[in-house]
Amino acid sequence: EKIKVFCPATIANISCGFDVLGVALDAVGDEMVVRKVDKKGISITKVVGQELPLETEKNVAGVAGLEFLKASDYSGGFEIEIYKKIKPGSGIGSSAASSTGAVWGMNHLLGNPFSKTELVTFAMEGERLASDVAHADNVAPALFGDFTLVRSYTPLDIVPIKAPSELYATVIHPQIEIKTSDSRKILKTTLSMETAIKQWGNVGGLIAGLLQNDYELIGRSLEDHIVEPIRSILIPGFDIVKNASLQAGALGAGISGSGPSIFAFSKGLEIAQKVAIAMAEVYDKIGIEYDVHVSKI
Ligand code: HSE
Repeated sequence: EKIKVFCPATIANISCGFDVLGVALDAVGDEMVVRKVDKKGISITKVVGQELPLETEKNVAGVAGLEFLKASDYSGGFEIEIYKKIKPGSGIGSSAASSTGAVWGMNHLLGNPFSKTELVTFAMEGERLASDVAHADNVAPALFGDFTLVRSYTPLDIVPIKAPSELYATVIHPQIEIKTSDSRKILKTTLSMETAIKQWGNVGGLIAGLLQNDYELIGRSLEDHIVEPIRSILIPGFDIVKNASLQAGALGAGISGSGPSIFAFSKGLEIAQKVAIAMAEVYDKIGIEYDVHVSKI
C-alpha cells in the first residue's frame, strides 16, 4: 500500500512573525511516495533532484518518520521516495516539506491515528536536525495549509488562518545558499521594549488584515524590526529587490524564512506577475542568477 504526497513549499516568519507565522504555497513543492512495509523502521529508498543523505537518522524525513513510529503502536515500517524540487537552503521550507510529507503520508496509510498538531510535533524533529532548532513555522502551514500562527510552543497551539481569496505570493531565489542554523546565530538575543511594541503591533495587524480581507492592512503590517535588519545583510540586493517589488504594486515584501529568498504579497495574479518581473530585473542588472515564481496562497 502506498501514497503519493504533494509537500508544499512554505514562507515562514512573514516579516513580523519570527518563528510563529507561516503560509503554504499552492504551486511550489516536492513529491514523495510513502509505502507501508512489514519491515520495521524507516528506509529512504530514493532521493531524486538533490543530493541528500539516504541514512534515516541523517535525513529530515527519516527523523520525522522515526518520531512518528516512536509514538505509534504500529509494528511495521515505511519506505520513502523523495522527489525534491525545493532547493535546500533556499528559504522556502525545503526541510519542512520533506518532514511533513513523510509523517502526513504515514498517518494517512495507517488511517489517520494522529491529529495534525501531533504530526507537527513529529515533523519539528526534522527541523531540529536541519536547523538546530525545532521551529514549527514551516511545518505547521505545510500540514494545515493556508496561514498558521504558532500561538504557543509549550503547549503547542497552532491557529490556522484562511488566506484572503486574491492573495498571491511572488518568491525570488537568488542562487546562493544560506543555512538556517547560520542565519539564526547572527540574531540578537535581546530587544528593547520599543522594538517589541512595534513588532507585536504588526503581528496583530497582519492577522486582523488576513481575517478581514483588508489587503492594505496586510501590506502595512509586513514590517520586521527585529530579524530583517540583521539578516538582510546576507542577501545581495535585498533593499533594491524589496523596493522594486513595492514600486511594481506589491502590498509588502520581506525575507522568506531565513533567506536568501525574498517574498512579496500582492492582490491579484496580474500584479504578482509584474512584481516577479521587477524583482528579476534587479538581479539581471546585478548579475545574480535566480529562480522566480508566483503562487496563489
Ligand atoms: N523561523 C525560521 C527562521 C524559519 O527564520 O530561522 C526558517 O525557515
